[in-house]
Amino acid sequence: MALAIGIDLGTTYSVVAAVRPGGRPDVLWNREGDHLTPSVVLFQGVDDVLIGKTAKNAAKDLPADCVEFVKRQMGNPDWVFADSHGGAHGAEEISALILKRLVEDASETLGTEIRDVVITVPAYFDDARRRATKDAGEIAGLRVLRLINEPTAAGIAFGTDAAESGTLFVYDLGGGTFDVTVMRLGKGELEVVATAGDRNLGGFDFDNRLMEHVAREVADQGGPSLQDGGSLEAELREKCEHAKHTLTRSTRTRIFFSDSGGNYTVEVGREQFETLTKDLLDRTADTVAEVLEESNTTWSDIDRILLVGGSTKMPMVREMLERLSGKAPDSTVNPDEVVALGAAIVADMELTKRRRPDAELPHKVRDVTSQSLGVIAVEDDLITEVNSIIIPKNAKIPCKEFQIYRTIAHHQRQFKLQVTEGDDDDVRYVTKLLEHPIELPGGLPKESPLKIIMSYDIDGVVHVEIIDAVSGQSLGEVELDRPANLDDAEVAGLSTTVGKARVQ
Ligand SMILES: Nc1ncnc2c1ncn2[C@@H]1O[C@H](COP(=O)(O)OP(=O)(O)OP(=O)(O)O)[C@@H](O)[C@H]1O
Ligand SMILES: [Mg+2]
Repeated sequence: MALAIGIDLGTTYSVVAAVRPGGRPDVLWNREGDHLTPSVVLFQGVDDVLIGKTAKNAAKDLPADCVEFVKRQMGNPDWVFADSHGGAHGAEEISALILKRLVEDASETLGTEIRDVVITVPAYFDDARRRATKDAGEIAGLRVLRLINEPTAAGIAFGTDAAESGTLFVYDLGGGTFDVTVMRLGKGELEVVATAGDRNLGGFDFDNRLMEHVAREVADQGGPSLQDGGSLEAELREKCEHAKHTLTRSTRTRIFFSDSGGNYTVEVGREQFETLTKDLLDRTADTVAEVLEESNTTWSDIDRILLVGGSTKMPMVREMLERLSGKAPDSTVNPDEVVALGAAIVADMELTKRRRPDAELPHKVRDVTSQSLGVIAVEDDLITEVNSIIIPKNAKIPCKEFQIYRTIAHHQRQFKLQVTEGDDDDVRYVTKLLEHPIELPGGLPKESPLKIIMSYDIDGVVHVEIIDAVSGQSLGEVELDRPANLDDAEVAGLSTTVGKARVQ
C-alpha cells in the first residue's frame, strides 16, 4: 500500500520521515546513509544536478554553480539563480529539485513509490512563501497533502512521544528561520495558542558574524580578502560553520587558512562568539516575550520548553531560556529530527482521512494564523487609507470574522475590495493579496453599512463575502487566489524540466 512521507524542507538541511504500516514514525536514511540532507544544489550541466552532501562539499570549488539557502528566497519573484551553463532557476524550481532527490531516496529506503507528501514551513511564513512551497512540491511531481507549521509538527511528534498534557513552549531556531509557539497538549489533541517569529534569522546569520570576524582577523594578519563572493568566501563559510559546531562542545577552536604561500590562524573562544552574536540572540528573546504576551501566558504556566532546530544546540540558547524561565528545557527529542517526525504523523493521518473519511484519527490539531488579514478602508477624512484587520493573527483555524464598513458617497455603485496581509495600520507596510471590484445596488444612501465576512479554512483558503447589512443581501463573494509567482502553465513547464533532470 502506498505510503505518505513527511518532509522538513530546511534552509540548510532537509529531513524525511515516514510512518510504516502499524508502526511509529521513523526518520529515513538518504543515499549517503545520513538522516540530514544538505539543502544544497550544484548545477553540473543541463539536466544534470547534484544535491546534498557532495554539492555542499563542492561549494568552495564551484561557487558559480552551487546554490544554498534557497528557502530564504521562496515567494520572491525577483530572485533567480543563474548557473554557468546558461540556466536560470527560480526558488520553486530549486526547491523542487531538492524535493525530488529527497523523495527518490525515501522511495528507495521504503521500497515503494512515493507521491503523497506533507511539507513543513516556518509558522511565520506568509502566504506567498507557503504558496511557493506548495508549487515546488507540484513541480517535483508530488501531491502535497498539506503544509504544516514546523513548531506544530514538532509539538505533534513530542505529544505522541510524551503522551502527556500541558502547555508546551516551542523555541525553533533552524538554519535560516526562527519561530516561537505556545501550544496546549491534551489527550490526542494539540491546540496552538500563539506563534511569532522571524523568517530571516537562523544559524546562517550566526555563521555570517563569525565569517566577518575571521575575515577581519585574516586581513589584519596581511592575508587575502576572504569575502570575495567566490571560492574563498565559500571556504570561509564552511570553516566558520564547522567552528561554530565545535564551539558547542568546546570553549575554544582554531580556524586555518592558506593562500599564496601564506598561512593564517584565527583562534575563537565561545565567549567571543557569543559576544559577536549577542544581538541575534537578544532578537529571539524579544520574540519569546512577544509570544508569551500574545498567548496570555507566563513562564509559570509553561510545563515544557521544547528546543527545535540545529541552532538550539548552541549552549547560549539553552542558557538564555533557563535564565528567562527558571526551567530546564526538555532534552528528550532530537532537535534535528522532531519536525520531520511530526510531518510524517500528519502525512499518515492525511492519507488515512482520504482513504476512509470517517476514520477516527489519533490526533486533532488546531493551528493559528500567523499573519493578520484585513482590507483597506478609508478614514473619516475619506482620503487616508488604513489597513483594517478582520482576522487578527493568532486566530484559531478554521475561523470566520466580520467587520462593518460604510459607503462613502450617495448612490455609490462600486467599491474596490483590497485584501491585505500584515499587522500594520499603515498600508505601505502590509501585503496586498487581492484587488477585486464589488458592484453595489443602486440607491444606497451615503454611509450605508456593508458587512465584510472573512473566513480562513484548514487548508489556508481565504473566503470573503460582502453583505448589504440593511437588506442582508449578498453583494459578492471571492475566494482568495493566492498570489503565486508562477501560473499553472509555468508550474507544468518546470515540472517537465525537473522531471527530466537527473538528480544525484
Ligand atoms: N552542534 C551545533 N552547534 C551549533 N549549531 C549547529 C549545530 N548543529 C547544527 N547547527 C546549525 O543548525 C542549523 C541547521 O539547523 P536545522 O537543520 O534545524 O535548520 P533548517 O531546517 O535547515 O533551517 P530552517 O528550519 O530555518 O529552514 C545550521 O545553521 C547549523 O550550522
Ligand atoms: Mg528546520
